Amino acid sequence: MKIAVTVKEVRNQVNEWRRQGMSVGLVPTMGYLHEGHKSLITRAVSENDKVVVSVFVNPMQFGPSEDLESYPRDMDRDAAVCEEAGAALVFHPEPSEMYHEGFSSYIDMNTLTEGLCGKSRPTHFRGVCTVVAKLFNIVVPDRAYFGQKDAQQLAVVRHMADDLSYGIEIIGCPIVREEDGLAKSSRNTYLSNEERKAALILNKALSEGKKLINSGEKDADKIKATISDIINTEPLARIDYVEVVSWDTLEPIKEINGQVLAAVAVFIGKTRLIDNFIIS
Ligand code: PAF
Repeated sequence: MKIAVTVKEVRNQVNEWRRQGMSVGLVPTMGYLHEGHKSLITRAVSENDKVVVSVFVNPMQFGPSEDLESYPRDMDRDAAVCEEAGAALVFHPEPSEMYHEGFSSYIDMNTLTEGLCGKSRPTHFRGVCTVVAKLFNIVVPDRAYFGQKDAQQLAVVRHMADDLSYGIEIIGCPIVREEDGLAKSSRNTYLSNEERKAALILNKALSEGKKLINSGEKDADKIKATISDIINTEPLARIDYVEVVSWDTLEPIKEINGQVLAAVAVFIGKTRLIDNFIIS
């Protein structure tokens, strides 16, 4: 497995694979890889001849008071995880390689980005779309893999790939959880032992919401209220949002119909965690 730090190295390698008629999969990440990332890489390896994993903590998607500086990083471990999962190339650029001096072009999306995480992170999806578009232009993959844990990101990237005619298949992969139900996240490392226990309330509340829908409840407000009430029983939890939206439009709905996304963002102490389920 190779590690590339420049755009040129990635292009040369991918061009070589293309000349040999190989297909290429891309797994964009910010590193500090866990089982969730590993599942994306494994899936990509099973569906493509070669897989590129990008490891880049993208400054553009962090707000001014967010955790860019403290975001966990461990490139040696990440490289080992990628190699073990069968990736052929890791792209690990410096911020200056991705954003040269005078960088001033951005991808902004008018739909899908205003609600859910976009409400409390108003510049986040502009940063995500811009870096993902750059990665698509650098790697030109056949397929790109994103986790459903960031459900809004998955919907936004899919929409962007379609709007901008990338011709890349965007593949969403299921949430990977710890044995006790906590969704895997690089940010879980911020949690103290006490907070780690408190964080279980996200999955617990969502599971009750899902049960209600499965038992025939159609009123989205009732489902939201049930989820919120359960989260509010945990003293260390502070709700950022609890939403029940159409998975198509990400717009809030009144009645459960078609594909529905129930999503939460909750502060456990200072750590903001997200989780969700999608149900038909
Ligand atoms: O999901 C992430 O880790 C990031 O948002 C992504 C897609 C790698 C873009 O920086």
